[in-house]
Amino acid sequence: MSSPVWLITGASNGLGLSFSLRALKAGHKVIGAMRNPTRAAEAVKAIESRGGKVVQIDMTESQASIHEKVKAAEKIYGKIDILVNNAGYSLLGPLSEFTEREVNTQIQTNFFGPIYAIQAVLPGMRSRKSGTIVNISSIAGQDALPTCSLYAGSKFALEGLSESLAREVAEWGIDVLIVEPGAFRTNFLKALVANEKGLPEHEKDTPVGKAMQRFHEVAGTQRGDPDKLADRVFEVVTGEGEAGALKGKILRLPLGKDCLTRLDAKIAKLKSDVDASRAIAETTDL
Ligand SMILES: NC(=O)c1ccc[n+]([C@@H]2O[C@H](COP(=O)([O-])OP(=O)(O)OC[C@H]3O[C@@H](n4cnc5c(N)ncnc54)[C@H](OP(=O)(O)O)[C@@H]3O)[C@@H](O)[C@H]2O)c1
Repeated sequence: MSSPVWLITGASNGLGLSFSLRALKAGHKVIGAMRNPTRAAEAVKAIESRGGKVVQIDMTESQASIHEKVKAAEKIYGKIDILVNNAGYSLLGPLSEFTEREVNTQIQTNFFGPIYAIQAVLPGMRSRKSGTIVNISSIAGQDALPTCSLYAGSKFALEGLSESLAREVAEWGIDVLIVEPGAFRTNFLKALVANEKGLPEHEKDTPVGKAMQRFHEVAGTQRGDPDKLADRVFEVVTGEGEAGALKGKILRLPLGKDCLTRLDAKIAKLKSDVDASRAIAETTDL
């Protein structure tokens, strides 16, 4: 059997680069997609020197353009077995202040771009009756903190899409995996984009103002190791190693102790809301 072929978006940095190097280390074929390979010369060298390929894709591009570029990437090795929708960033600020451009760019990058990439790989996966789509969400795709309304919204949307897609494509032998990282030490917190209008005076001492401050303070102290995350995702996708037994058994892969703490609290709150509303919910049938 020929080596599995990965297409990984946002391969210039952080988790995307870790995924690329992990798969290359296993002898798999990797195509790393980056929005600006010239600016990411070091990552390009790291991937190409290990036998990988690099293509240019900006996730804010149009549907037609992303389709065309992913199809061209598919021609490099004749297939894409694993698509990792990893590229993403977080806009921060009070929802009331976001401009139309900020809203569009956040949702295009984290949600529309992945949709178009998935659409482009599905026909090939369907014809081979195999494939894996890995969507990198976040604990923010389950538990939304203040200032992250748009980022969390984009990740909730990606999770909803993934849940539905998994049910659509299972009969074609295609797996969907949602990855929910907690805080991992990449460039992510340094790449946070504060809303361009700034924090209004009335928000300085609110949960929004405090959260904005905290995000900047914790940059560089995240507990999560990006290479360990890449190992665990590689194992779940391939069925090898420590996490290999989870292959095909889970839809969501939470990673990091901080993620687990927030997820447990979210599940408890969800359960408590359902239990509190149960008697009322039962009153509305015809
Ligand atoms: N690190 C964490 O704590 C954490 C936690 C939860 C979820 N995540 C998710 O993990 C994924 C990877 O983040 P990371 O931690 O590796 O952060 P990172 O180091 O900042 O890397 C983000 C990657 O996304 C790329 N990117 C951003 N906008 C793009 C666009 N319009 N088109 C193409 N590529 C674009 C960046 O490219 P450039 O190099 O060109 O900027 C970079 O390669 C993201 O989806 C993020 O939401 C991260």
